[in-house]
Amino acid sequence: MKKRIVSTDIQTEDNEIDSTIRPINLADYIGQTEAKETLKIFIEAAIKRQEALDHVLLYGPPGLGKTTLAGVIAYEMKVNFKVTSGPAIEKPGDIVAILNTLQNGDILFIDEIHRIPRYIEEMLYTAMEDYAIDIMVGKGPSAKPIRINLPKFTLIGATTRAGLLSAPLRDRFGIIQRLEFYSLEELAQILIRTGNILNTEVELKAGLAIAKCSRGTPRLANRFLKRVRDIIYIKYNTNIISLDNAILSLELLNLDQNGLDTLDRRILNTIANFFGGGPVGLDTLAATLSEERETLEDVYEPYLLQKGLIMRTARGRVLTQEAYYILGIDKKIS
Ligand code: ADE
Repeated sequence: MKKRIVSTDIQTEDNEIDSTIRPINLADYIGQTEAKETLKIFIEAAIKRQEALDHVLLYGPPGLGKTTLAGVIAYEMKVNFKVTSGPAIEKPGDIVAILNTLQNGDILFIDEIHRIPRYIEEMLYTAMEDYAIDIMVGKGPSAKPIRINLPKFTLIGATTRAGLLSAPLRDRFGIIQRLEFYSLEELAQILIRTGNILNTEVELKAGLAIAKCSRGTPRLANRFLKRVRDIIYIKYNTNIISLDNAILSLELLNLDQNGLDTLDRRILNTIANFFGGGPVGLDTLAATLSEERETLEDVYEPYLLQKGLIMRTARGRVLTQEAYYILGIDKKIS
């Protein structure tokens, strides 16, 4: 396989993490140890055999760096990286146009792949399996299908929930990898690395304090780092983020050291005050909060579950003792 330049026109989920702070290779990519170890083996095997990497599905809550990791895979494979997203693919012509630009070994990344319309998704089946697409040419009775052969490419799909994909699509991915929330230590390391790139020293304790507000995601951690960096520069005339000035800045930004945002708190308070601590179904909760069920399920619930603040039971969501503690409600649950 020929060596090629990796295109960097990434325009999806991690948009705001600008390309200078985004890790390019696996060695610079912090965290997701399990995903990295497995991917490393499959990448090495594909390179040694001079084959395209098998199709990869990355799933997990938003903000964990699925796009970044896909770009890293393309870099390690030394192939072109093309990016699109489920909502951008509205008609068959959209997917045909993208597939037509691919060369042997290239990586096509489709973010939010679960949002591709079903009839277009079916075109991906043959593209993934036989490296070909069938399109109808002409109209009415004279219309006939023609087959367009494609180069051997790799599809990397990203989704917030693998369960949202149809079984035929899911089955066509040879590598299915879940991404996990980052630990505080991993986020602190990411912040120290980002700080280096931005000419800002991040002391470890300060990194951990910012990490605590970041809901286990590098996207938020890096966003908060940039704001803290502005505050300490203007208010304290320094480029060194210490524990003290980090805490003062985080307070100024109204950030909670439990990593909870306003909607997290509303969710917990609503379960506590309207539903006696639960159980309450997600649809009822979403209606009470005037929020989309999907937002609660994909973005909020995974973090609250991981923090041990809610539990999922057969009858709905219930608050844990820890949640009452954080809300400052004096209630003992049995
Ligand atoms: N910036 C955002 N995500 C990162 C990661 N996983 N490793 C290093 N830097 C990052």
